[in-house]
Amino acid sequence: MALADIIARFDPADPAFIADPYPVLNELREATPGFWNERTGQWTITRFADVQETLRDRRLGRAYTHRYTHAEVGKPEPDPRWASFHQHEQWSLLCLEPPDHTRIRRLVSKVFTPRAVAALRPAIEGYSTELLDRCEGLGRFDLLRDYAQPYSVAVICSMLGVPRSDTQLLLDWSHAIVKMYELTTSDDVKASANRAAAEYIEYTKALIADKRRQPDGLLVSELVRVEDEGDVLTEDEIVSTTMVLLEAGHEATVNTLGNGTRALMLHRDQWDRVVRGEVPAKVAIEEMLRWDAPLQLFERWVLEEGVAIAGQPLAVGQEVAMLFGAAERDPRRFADADRFDVGRGDTAHIGFGGGIHFCVGAPLARQELDVSLAGLAARFPNLHLDGAPAYLPNFVIRGLDGLRVAV
Ligand code: HEM
Repeated sequence: MALADIIARFDPADPAFIADPYPVLNELREATPGFWNERTGQWTITRFADVQETLRDRRLGRAYTHRYTHAEVGKPEPDPRWASFHQHEQWSLLCLEPPDHTRIRRLVSKVFTPRAVAALRPAIEGYSTELLDRCEGLGRFDLLRDYAQPYSVAVICSMLGVPRSDTQLLLDWSHAIVKMYELTTSDDVKASANRAAAEYIEYTKALIADKRRQPDGLLVSELVRVEDEGDVLTEDEIVSTTMVLLEAGHEATVNTLGNGTRALMLHRDQWDRVVRGEVPAKVAIEEMLRWDAPLQLFERWVLEEGVAIAGQPLAVGQEVAMLFGAAERDPRRFADADRFDVGRGDTAHIGFGGGIHFCVGAPLARQELDVSLAGLAARFPNLHLDGAPAYLPNFVIRGLDGLRVAV
């Protein structure tokens, strides 16, 4: 098939593509290391080695505004109709480059060291057990709504010091906001993301005021203390940092549990290996992350002259899109790459990114996934699908609409 025809099938608006994007992603990757996506204006790359190199290349960044004006790179000013959305992410780690990125990341990283995260294990197991007890009572349940969402939100809220009773509010805001990261978004979707961001900012400001009055030693409170003591952080920075942690802290974890458990249910032999203890949950979760990635695409801006990626010279201000789903199935990197093999034991996939933006929450996410999969396998060895799961109509953030299961 001609390359143009394969590119035409890379269509996030097509339900058949969303249901199973891998045949098209595989064809694209084998046909070419990179192609221009006319719809988005991005040089889009497909192979593992190129994606990994791009993630680490400091001549590219997640932002360009620390170096250039919008006009200098030929981009329009941000649309004032979505001002709250832009405000919420202005100081997010995901929108910063050094030196601001380094300063804020240093503060946040302390809380997410493997040692600090290991200390949370008993509490995380407690949330898991409590929710699995409820699921057991139900017999049939939605693994996402009844388990993964309340679980992941409880964990991140307990780290940040956010009341667990606000779970539903946070989920609703977060789900509305992350739609902004899809490749194409309608004005209605943008408007509701913007409304959610505005409400969420007010909520976060009130939370910060509470912590200032009554410190609790948890992350938001600690960020406030740092601000009060050394003027290292501004209130806007604390707001963005809190919001990005809350959002990033559950969306991808929930979707990994959903996509990964679906894969296990469809590959019964692999589920049985976990149930029998032949493959520890800790090992199996790495394959869940690789085989059906919860985050399918990340972008970078070219910041310097002389950059060429996957054979293509690129000018300052051009955008590169990295197709994680294609790269994670690259046979140049993974033997029998399409095979779902829970015993693969390969932790050097790119599920958590690479370079300076490497996922700060990776140790936490791995622990959450490990505790959940171990709990599910130990308690429900006969877990099975209760209806065919369907994916949400999104590409970048890949997740199921629900995962009905029975025990
Ligand atoms: C399975 C779950 C998760 C996956 C697959 C995941 C994946 C990723 C990836 C790929 C990046 C890099 C983005 C880039 O390079 O452009 C990233 C960054 C990030 N993640 Fe995660 N993540 C997960 C869970 C979490 C959790 C639980 C938290 C919060 C505690 C978190 C917080 C962050 C933050 C703050 C960043 C930005 C780091 C920076 O820019 O320096 N993530 N994540």
